Amino acid sequence: MKPYETYQYLEGTPMTERDKLEIDSKFWNEGKWKNFILPFLPEDCGELTLIDMGCNAGLFLSMAEEKGFGQVIGVDSNEEAVKRGLVWRDTDKGAYQIRHGDESCDLPMADYTILANVHYYIPIEKWLAYLDKLQYKTRYCIIVTTDRHIRQRCWPKADLESIRRYFRGWEEVGFIDELPLEGNHARRLWGLCFKSSIERVPIDSLDCGNHVQDRFYAELDAGKDFKRTRYYRILKPYRKDWSEEKLDNWVMALMALYEDVKVNRLTSPLIVEGNLILDGNHRHAMMKHLGHKSILVRKI
Ligand SMILES: C[S@@+](CC[C@H](N)C(=O)[O-])C[C@H]1O[C@@H](n2cnc3c(N)ncnc32)[C@H](O)[C@@H]1O
Repeated sequence: MKPYETYQYLEGTPMTERDKLEIDSKFWNEGKWKNFILPFLPEDCGELTLIDMGCNAGLFLSMAEEKGFGQVIGVDSNEEAVKRGLVWRDTDKGAYQIRHGDESCDLPMADYTILANVHYYIPIEKWLAYLDKLQYKTRYCIIVTTDRHIRQRCWPKADLESIRRYFRGWEEVGFIDELPLEGNHARRLWGLCFKSSIERVPIDSLDCGNHVQDRFYAELDAGKDFKRTRYYRILKPYRKDWSEEKLDNWVMALMALYEDVKVNRLTSPLIVEGNLILDGNHRHAMMKHLGHKSILVRKI
């Protein structure tokens, strides 16, 4: 097993002896991306978010960005791999994020979450807690696994049957069988793609029930004092039972949310029934104002 610090090879950086042997491998680095991840990804991904959990030095993030994903974020618990990845990203002028952390960190909503040879390094109780959360944080989860034999009970298993049990409640929408064990660094790998109940829908297909926020975000962008915005003037008589301080704090929290949405997009799905938004009117208006054409929803 390669040390995490140097697990991925990044083009233009010094090669280890093992990198030199394995550089053309179908099962590692670019070969793993091309054979076990890329086939699950759609052609048009400009609106989409990809998250790579256990991204190591971020090679797949760079490939996802090159493929056209609009938002690309990786997380890895190995500080050295992350540092190496950040230096390389900055040399290459990549826009993707690499965060030092683990599966428990707070992340935006994703269209695709990748777990490539990672899940069996997460203790079972943390793995299950992550999976529970992931159901409402991503549309698809692509998991690459191997024939690793896990003896201890407290670690998740790697075999296909166990993976399918972990993802019961999701729909398996894709499977890549192992490749012939030829060439350097040949290993038994499988790719699986699971779909959750989260959906991406056209932003204009949703009904927020009113137009009170119209122009609010454009007015904020233009630097208008929030108390002089149209929305504030509508809110003031509507929230007549609130003190001015309470109303101002509420609007300022909304403005902080707008700043967050600009950076992170959504961190939880809108909740919708039919085309009616039950929760997320503000985030819907913000995303629409920011030019997004589609949005992630949880339908009930
Ligand atoms: C075998 S490497 C795979 C790296 C990369 N996914 C790939 O396929 O090229 C496993 C990676 O998972 C990371 N990792 C292990 N446990 C983790 C956790 N709980 N949260 C995030 N990353 C983790 C390690 O630091 C390491 O970079």
